[in-house]
Amino acid sequence: MADSKGKRDRVILAYSGGLDTSVMVPWIGEKYNLDVVAFTVDLGQGEDIEKIRAKALKTGAVDAVAIDARNLFVDCFVFPALMAGALYEGKYPLATALGRPLIAKLMVDCAREHQAKAVAHGCTGKGNDQVRFDVTFQTLAPDLKIIAPVREWKMSRDEALEYAARHGIEVEATKKSPYSIDVNLWGRSCEAGVLEDPWEEPPEDAYAWTTSPLKAPDEPEYVEIEFEQGRPVALNGERLDGVPLIEKLNALGGKHGVGRIDHVENRLVGIKSREIYEAPAAVILHQAHQELETLCLSKQAQRFKTIVAQEYADIIYNGLWFSAFHQDLFQFVLSNQRFVSGLVRVKLYKGQAIVVGRQSEHSLYSKKLATYEAGDQFDHEAAQGFIRLWGLSQQTQAQLQLLKGGKGFDLPGLAGPKSGQ
Ligand code: ARG
Repeated sequence: MADSKGKRDRVILAYSGGLDTSVMVPWIGEKYNLDVVAFTVDLGQGEDIEKIRAKALKTGAVDAVAIDARNLFVDCFVFPALMAGALYEGKYPLATALGRPLIAKLMVDCAREHQAKAVAHGCTGKGNDQVRFDVTFQTLAPDLKIIAPVREWKMSRDEALEYAARHGIEVEATKKSPYSIDVNLWGRSCEAGVLEDPWEEPPEDAYAWTTSPLKAPDEPEYVEIEFEQGRPVALNGERLDGVPLIEKLNALGGKHGVGRIDHVENRLVGIKSREIYEAPAAVILHQAHQELETLCLSKQAQRFKTIVAQEYADIIYNGLWFSAFHQDLFQFVLSNQRFVSGLVRVKLYKGQAIVVGRQSEHSLYSKKLATYEAGDQFDHEAAQGFIRLWGLSQQTQAQLQLLKGGKGFDLPGLAGPKSGQ
């Protein structure tokens, strides 16, 4: 792709500085005749993005952009997901899945600024991440061509190394990890290698953020988390912005071995995969938040919220962040969270985060109604009339159908499996 003056068009490449995306710089240039603008986002993966930017330029990118998007990530992606209670299949706090739509959106902005004609990423052809990137590009900028070199080039690691050597690309001498790893502030994911056998216990080297619970301190540690309208705002009385709050909880939880998740998950592309996650802050915050909701939400709201949480998690996991359905659900969550303010006390101990206390100015818990001691204001007599009506339809059905003619009640489920089933 080139214009009439022979100037090449540009492509914005999601650049991590690793082997694959480095090889992509000259590869895309050769294969697609495009100038590469490298694009790196800091989502709290703990890497020096300025160094990565410099490497991109050395590798042949015509320009390189590095953006610190940690605050945006936490405020507009992570905390809404937390407020929604979004855990994919009840387990995975969705760190990677939340990062992708943000990266893709920032890439589209960058493409507009640079009048680029294409975007490129390093995802493989069998994961969820390609879906999240491509669907976001497709939604926000259908005119941009999408290039995913790993999906098409079929290079082995050795071939990629050879290609890098031929093009003078520096490859760090560190030994290649046996795992495929993705990291941001909200969590670390680890897959492949021995983990591909779901029977195999994850070896300690699969973990990087958490101490083994066996080696965690013998003394428990307590942390008090304050929430305002569903958002965490303070730790142990200290008001903190989202980024440092999460960083602190990751360190604290990690020290106590909290946040390890072993998940055989259902990928969007139809396969099951076994993943090991570490997400101390996410695990602690989800648990604390859910406990606060038990005080602040009505029974019906709490129940309905579990459905919303599941839908929300699916939207995120399946790459549909930029949908009207998500906007609608988000409005529900905002409204639903307006009374979810208060304090939660969590005990961290040998791999566990245990909520041991919760309080809220909006608490629906009434000691006067709950107590078995003096001061009880619950109307015990009213219970009788209530129960008569509550059981009325079941009583009626039993008499007219189930027990008719003096039949006994068939106990469900006692037969056990028949042989051969
Ligand atoms: N399975 C997780 C997800 O789909 C994590 C993916 C991690 N990505 C990676 N490139 N290692 O969100």
